[in-house]
Amino acid sequence: MSDSVKLSYKDQTFEFPLIEGTEKEKGIDIKSLRAQTGLITYDPGYKNTGSCESEITFLDGEEGILRYRGYSIEDLCEKASFIEVAFLLIFGELPTPKELNLFSEEIRKDSLVDEDLKTILKSFPKAAHPMGVLSSLTSALIAFNPNSVDIESDAEMREAIIMLMAKFPILASWTHRKVKGLPLNYANISFSYVENIAHMMFKMPHQEYEPSPVLVNALNKLLILHADHEQNCSTSTVRIVGSSHAGLFASVSSGISALWGPLHGGANQAVIEMLEAIQADGGDTKKFMAKAKDKEDPFRLMGFGHRVYKNFDPRARIIKKAADEVLQELGINDPVLEIAKSLEQEALNDPYFIKRKLYPNVDFYSGIIYRALGIPTEMFTVMFALGRLPGWIAQWLEMRKKNEPIGRPRQIYTGPTARTF
Ligand code: ACO
Repeated sequence: MSDSVKLSYKDQTFEFPLIEGTEKEKGIDIKSLRAQTGLITYDPGYKNTGSCESEITFLDGEEGILRYRGYSIEDLCEKASFIEVAFLLIFGELPTPKELNLFSEEIRKDSLVDEDLKTILKSFPKAAHPMGVLSSLTSALIAFNPNSVDIESDAEMREAIIMLMAKFPILASWTHRKVKGLPLNYANISFSYVENIAHMMFKMPHQEYEPSPVLVNALNKLLILHADHEQNCSTSTVRIVGSSHAGLFASVSSGISALWGPLHGGANQAVIEMLEAIQADGGDTKKFMAKAKDKEDPFRLMGFGHRVYKNFDPRARIIKKAADEVLQELGINDPVLEIAKSLEQEALNDPYFIKRKLYPNVDFYSGIIYRALGIPTEMFTVMFALGRLPGWIAQWLEMRKKNEPIGRPRQIYTGPTARTF
């Protein structure tokens, strides 16, 4: 007999089945809870709520494990290219060399966008945040590619996926070129996916450009590390928007908005802004540590703490090593990065942070690495979005293929009861 959980309420006992994943995580299947008991569960922030069964990413926050389709993040960062990882996430298996070539070739061929998109881009003020612009441009892609996609047709789905993978880096780089007042670049067919991201962002009109191996290596790792993270805020957004049968591009556009927030992907930008603020204030890290611990002060140490990783963030371990390598190879001596190092050491040894299991997360180091690579602060979260794209696509596809019901949580109403107008 399979395991179950009993719930007693008003002299009655109700039984709910347990479900178990391949990594032995257990959950109570409460699909029939309301029908049986009239009750709902209350779980703000969904800290204990599983919204789906998923075969894509496994993470164990206590043990600091992160795997995509069973492969450890450490192995993938060491041995794979970002585009291989994208294929793995989206299609479920690592590509054969032939499949990888075909996938890369299809993406290269589709690396164009309608020139009219430039008109939309031009109408944004220069000060517009790149994440807002990216979300809008991604949404605008729908207008330029209005054919609806039959989810049952693998060929049509593949075409939509290739289109998004190909066009997204162009739009992302354009948000940067716009801020800098630079001409808008297209991909160079002879470069790899990651090289092309660097090329489209950094190529100056009057100079040849060859992306440096340090930059490409670090970018490759960063993109892989960010490629998926199971049911986080932006991914849940993509799935819930898609659950209404809104299309892939519209769902991803919403995911970009969710990622923008400083409690999620926007933290990498917030980390550098915080470090710069500490520097401008005289560089006293202890003062900011005290602020972070003061419950009367809303200040939080950005880049510390994580909803699920309570021992360490395995991505942070990899990216810290990469950050050290990049700083050394580029011979960078940046006072802001010195502040980061002091803050990290102080927090790691502080009882407040130790007690609450607050460790540096991936965003603490990714901000540092992006800064060292010369990527402007306001582009950090866009870089995150570039990495997360295959994860969003994979999760959207899984949700639609399983024909999941529309996402629609309930609530406990606490407003006024009926009153007369
Ligand atoms: N600085 C100071 N105190 C903190 C921090 C922090 N960065 N993070 C959490 N705490 C404290 C809280 O005040 C709380 O203290 P209390 O128990 O005395 O009330 C305790 O630690 C638990 O914090 P919660 O907010 O309940 O933890 P939650 O899991 O809800 O939040 C989050 C996780 C949002 C990441 C939080 O740690 C935070 O705001 N960190 C800073 C922002 C950040 O770096 N975000 C990036 C996350 S990684 C990513 O999205 C890719």
